[in-house]
Amino acid sequence: MKQKRFLMVCLGNICRSPLAEGILKHKAAAAGLDWVVESAGTNGYHTGEAPHPLSQKVARLNGVDICQQRARNFTAADLERYDHIYAMAADVITDMKRIAGKQWDPSKVDLLLNEVEAGSNQDVPDPWYGEEPGYHDVYKLIDSACDAIIMRFAQVKSQK
Ligand code: 4NP
Repeated sequence: MKQKRFLMVCLGNICRSPLAEGILKHKAAAAGLDWVVESAGTNGYHTGEAPHPLSQKVARLNGVDICQQRARNFTAADLERYDHIYAMAADVITDMKRIAGKQWDPSKVDLLLNEVEAGSNQDVPDPWYGEEPGYHDVYKLIDSACDAIIMRFAQVKSQK
């Protein structure tokens, strides 16, 4: 089976997209899939930083270790390097278009939550300004989207 390459993108690459990277990586490995899953941010404010302590905590409580991740900037070259690029929210897509310029390829990019409900165009809310419960809510949303990605691209058949 061909290796698939996924990129998860948010603003800071410290709250939402590190969770998305960690969760999808974890599920892909559990399903025996040879997938590359990485993440990036569009605002560059936190480049080189580890994920937010609350993202790390919520991931750990769910058996997912994201503490080794470090924030990096989304670049135009990412449009070529990945097969599927998921933005956590509409403002992230606006930034990605600006950064990508001529490399922009809408066929590779979608909002993450459109994997849960196609065409719903919902954002994963930014937990950065809030408290711990917001991070748990974000985890659940991203977790269900990652289940949908596994079902779609791994062609896993549901167990009856
Ligand atoms: P994220 O959250 O995009 O989910 O990583 C944010 C983290 C930091 C900032 C904004 C959003 N910030 O403006 O510093």
